Amino acid sequence: MKIFNLSLCILCLFLFGACTPTPDSPATFVDKQLKNADAQLSLLLTDALEANRNPRTIDAAGEMHWVRQGFDWTEGFFPGTSWFLYDVTKKDAWKAAAEKFQAQYEDHKYLTGFHDLGFIFNCSYGNGYKITKNKAYKEVLKTASDSLITRFNPTVGSIMSWDVHHGWQSKRGWKFPVIIDNMMNLEMLFEASISTGDPKYKEVAIAHADTTLKNHFREDYSCYHVVDYDPETGAVRSKQTAQGFSDSSAWARGQAWAVYGYTMCYRYTQDEKYLEQAQKVADYILQYPGLPEDLIPYWDYNDPKIPNAPRDASAAAVTASALVELSGYTNGKYIQDAANILKSLASPEYTATLGTNKHFILKHSVGSIPHNNEIDVPLNYADYYYIEALLKFKDYHTKK
Ligand code: GLY
Repeated sequence: MKIFNLSLCILCLFLFGACTPTPDSPATFVDKQLKNADAQLSLLLTDALEANRNPRTIDAAGEMHWVRQGFDWTEGFFPGTSWFLYDVTKKDAWKAAAEKFQAQYEDHKYLTGFHDLGFIFNCSYGNGYKITKNKAYKEVLKTASDSLITRFNPTVGSIMSWDVHHGWQSKRGWKFPVIIDNMMNLEMLFEASISTGDPKYKEVAIAHADTTLKNHFREDYSCYHVVDYDPETGAVRSKQTAQGFSDSSAWARGQAWAVYGYTMCYRYTQDEKYLEQAQKVADYILQYPGLPEDLIPYWDYNDPKIPNAPRDASAAAVTASALVELSGYTNGKYIQDAANILKSLASPEYTATLGTNKHFILKHSVGSIPHNNEIDVPLNYADYYYIEALLKFKDYHTKK
């Protein structure tokens, strides 16, 4: 018992810089942040209900920017966060919010022109299914998975990210662009194979993860944002960026998607090569010499304007969530780093005072600097992955 108390004390000392007296055990720390999230996002929910719109970020004029009607890759995050808060608080208002806002885009499950269906449906309907076991949600997830795998090309061994005949991306000369972000869509496919018993979704996910592992990474385990393939031969045509500083730079959120993606692939496959890849990427992120002391990265590790460049709290939140999970597979190797990131995100530098920040939780994220879009703003996905990371962090310590 004494040994247990001593190790708990040492853990608190390491995590939060003080031993006695400290109320901030990992669980207390998380509960405090979740209480704040419930209060702040309840204000955001009031705004959303009044407008009957799903919140995304703040625009350049400082006004609320709702998700685009028609299709928006971020539309699943506020409903997903609402499911998390329903699970934590059991308040009916959060369940009603999740149901209302995810229903607004349910028919997007049929869309085959975008790769983002995993982000959208797994974060909302996927969490909803885990919590409620509602069979209708399972059907939605299956249909979305069927739509997503229409973009898989067996010659390339990947799911195509962006269509190339319209939008800004049509000007890049790509034939079959695949972005590192696409790793995040695979979770829905792994889940679809479990819930339907049909291995085809998992097979696509594994092929995509293997092709990405082979072609997206540099020798130092940083990753390119975009790899363009020849859809006829599967050959790599180019390695570039869309949202990073340059083709050869390390775009912060891309590195975060990579460590999260391979950690998640290991969860479903127990394939050691994914675990190894996740650790290599984690080590690259954490050992990068330019990583700021508070562990919240600049939006791109190689922006020459650093230190006068924006940070990206969304990349930190995604990374924290991945590192907590990865710690569960590596004897706690990354839990200290995850704790430090969460501690920074919970500080007043990144967590908004109640009632400010248009009622989002986190400040200081970046959407896309090359598109001059969403620079140093709150983002619905920064909040989503932050809450997810907090929940995983509490769970990690509860199970220990
Ligand atoms: N998937 C888009 C982004 O990370 O900005």
